[in-house]
Amino acid sequence: MTAQIINGKETAAQVRTELKNKIATLNSAPKLAIILVGNDDSSLIYVRNKQKAAAEIGIETELYHLPENTAEQTVWEIIDDCNRNTDVNGIIVQLPLPAHLNTHKIINRILPTKDVDGFHPYNTGMLHNNEKPYFIAATPLGIMKLIQQHCPNLSGKNVVLIGASLIVGRPLATLLLNQECTVSITHIHTRNIKELTQKADILVAACGVAKLVKADWIKPDSILIDVGINRDNGKICGDIDFDDVVDKAAAITPVPGGVGPMTIAMLLQNTYDAFLIQHSAL
Ligand code: GUN
Repeated sequence: MTAQIINGKETAAQVRTELKNKIATLNSAPKLAIILVGNDDSSLIYVRNKQKAAAEIGIETELYHLPENTAEQTVWEIIDDCNRNTDVNGIIVQLPLPAHLNTHKIINRILPTKDVDGFHPYNTGMLHNNEKPYFIAATPLGIMKLIQQHCPNLSGKNVVLIGASLIVGRPLATLLLNQECTVSITHIHTRNIKELTQKADILVAACGVAKLVKADWIKPDSILIDVGINRDNGKICGDIDFDDVVDKAAAITPVPGGVGPMTIAMLLQNTYDAFLIQHSAL
């Protein structure tokens, strides 16, 4: 048996088409402000991809590309301006920020109603309390959509996450817990990690280690979600060794073409929702 390939590229394209149709009916275009500090290679690519995808469906973007040595005060002032500007519906600060900047202080400055990355403590706190936040982080939101396509009833499932980041692991654990899963969050200090992953009905790898997860790490017929984007001898690969596990798993997200495209689609969805929130339609 070969695992079913979970086609994130296709699902993301459907989401973008639906959004494009809905945006075409609005009186004005939703607008996303993107703050990028420095010239991190991956961040430059991600931001360019976000701008391109937004433009394709009628979302305007305004990029504030600031030099590496920008002072924290300057970033705060830009956020304050965007918070006040009623033309701006959503604000994101591309991460990681240069080390001299305090990420939490900067994120916390964004109005929760414009925090389309869903990183503000208001939004993470509401998620934690199993109440409705304004926004949920795009990558976990996209992963949930893919998982639920393959497994509509998550109640009681054993889910193991590899990685406990602010952007993926933590919010995803909460979303899964809110769907009545039994969630184990593993990380770099976890002992005997394989003993945990071998019991996972659903395994999510988001640790940034190329091809870490091998066939002997997984439960037969499990669902595998690969969030990693790594390079192995110049070739893009995930955190899961696809070729090694593909005959043992029930379903797997490929890299590229799995989780990655969903992240951008969900950011666009959040920006559209932000427009509705600011126009009191949501
Ligand atoms: N860096 C990596 N992923 C993300 C994301 O989803 N949002 C932001 N702002 N930065 C990121």
